[in-house]
Amino acid sequence: MGSIWVTLLFISSIMVVDGGVGIPRTIDGPFKPVTVPLDKSFRGHAVDIPDTDPLVQRTVQGFQPEQISLSLSTSHDSVWVSWITGEFQIGENIEPLDPEKVASIVKYGRFGRSINRQAVGYSLVYSQLYPFEGLQNYTSGIIHHVRLTGLRANTLYQYQCGDPSLSAMSDIHYFRTMPVSGPKSYPSRIAVVGDLGLTYNTTSTVDHMAINHPDLILLVGDASYANMYLTNGTSSDCYSCSFSNTPIHETYQPRWDYWGRYMETLISSVPIMVVEGNHEIEAQAENKTFVAYSSRFAFPSEESGSSSTFYYSFNAGGIHFIMLGAYISYNKSGDQYKWLERDLASVDREVTPWLVATWHPPWYSTYKSHYREAECMRVEMEDLLYTYGVDIVFNGHVHAYERSNRVYNYTLDPCGPVYITVGDGGNREKMAITHADEPGNCPEPSTTPDDFMGGFCAFNFTSGPAAGKFCWDQQPDYSAFRESSFGHGILEVKNETHALWSWHRNQDMYDIAGDAIYIVRQPDKCPPVKTEG
Ligand SMILES: [Fe+2]
Repeated sequence: MGSIWVTLLFISSIMVVDGGVGIPRTIDGPFKPVTVPLDKSFRGHAVDIPDTDPLVQRTVQGFQPEQISLSLSTSHDSVWVSWITGEFQIGENIEPLDPEKVASIVKYGRFGRSINRQAVGYSLVYSQLYPFEGLQNYTSGIIHHVRLTGLRANTLYQYQCGDPSLSAMSDIHYFRTMPVSGPKSYPSRIAVVGDLGLTYNTTSTVDHMAINHPDLILLVGDASYANMYLTNGTSSDCYSCSFSNTPIHETYQPRWDYWGRYMETLISSVPIMVVEGNHEIEAQAENKTFVAYSSRFAFPSEESGSSSTFYYSFNAGGIHFIMLGAYISYNKSGDQYKWLERDLASVDREVTPWLVATWHPPWYSTYKSHYREAECMRVEMEDLLYTYGVDIVFNGHVHAYERSNRVYNYTLDPCGPVYITVGDGGNREKMAITHADEPGNCPEPSTTPDDFMGGFCAFNFTSGPAAGKFCWDQQPDYSAFRESSFGHGILEVKNETHALWSWHRNQDMYDIAGDAIYIVRQPDKCPPVKTEG
């Protein structure tokens, strides 16, 4: 065994037996900002997995289920199972499949007992249409969503999905339900990942994530990157530069099927909760957007009082998760904001002490890429999240890792959330390596808003060391740690007040943390507003 492996195993064993000793706690902060120097040898060239790779090829026949995945409902007693039957079509003459032709049935039971229960769901197909000369249209296989109910907490189940009348049932898969919601009841490990794509770096991220055995996966937007392709399957690392003359921003929807096939091994047994990113917009004919995203995944929208696939909430043990949409209206007068007010007001912190919010583009990122792009959303929503005492915010979008000190309105605040950006899942676009606070890198403010998000709110800072300026001239005090490497994070909530957050770089052994911190709640010092919960 080479010395490097001995060293790695030694470090690994330290991490395992450390038991948290030496890991900093947020209550010891705020911490001096840290920038890990760029390790060019680990930047990697993110190459998309081609359609010839067995990882993404169809391996089933007829109407056998494929692309099987799980997602949670709002509480431990219910889980969604999703899958696809039949083949997609792409070309000029496509005929959508009839979703009624294949039933949506899940047979299930507790592990070690018989599979004697059955749930029936619904099915749909979607089309991605580009009515322009020379472009190809797409229509999906039949997408099935079935909700299982009446499940016991923290219990291993087995299931098969498909249509028994067609002898088209899947193999047996397994999943464990979430623990019951309560202040002393938490899933062991929640993986958080963003901007995955489908490259050989993605497989490294997903392999590392799987080997850390998460009970649940949060995908903070930007999944397949099908919109980095023309409808003829030609790809680009920079769509807008390479294909600027096309009549519409095309996509190659089979990349979604490849993504679903690749991910099945993991997400047919570990639930994944997804929120939309800009790569899911995928505009098509009649100004339709987000059609693949809204069709392929199941969301607990209805169960959480939302009428939209773009925002919803759910509980995982004593954690209440809020998933927000950055690419639809977030204004105070809009439906999403009103839903958010209602949802926050209904959270009982005696039952779910932890409140975690997730959306795609970060409010607090110090990289030049997408710098202050979501400022209008921050201006509109930050007060509400702060008032209700959100503990942690997870974002993606910026292709790097960053963790903030507790912050509110750009000011260090012991009662503000910790903001964590994990847009470093490994997609084919370039990694973010440039910081807005480096000389000559501060963007021109007028260039920063995202066109699709609308509005301009990114004015100069009015207080603090950068008052009167658009950027700091050093790493801002609200940025605690930043590094440009691919990886994923693991959240381990230990009790009502302590959660261990660790970030795992792809170049390390899976159980080594590139960054680790105990996020500590202080409900006595920072009492959340009393709710009706
Ligand atoms: Fe993004």
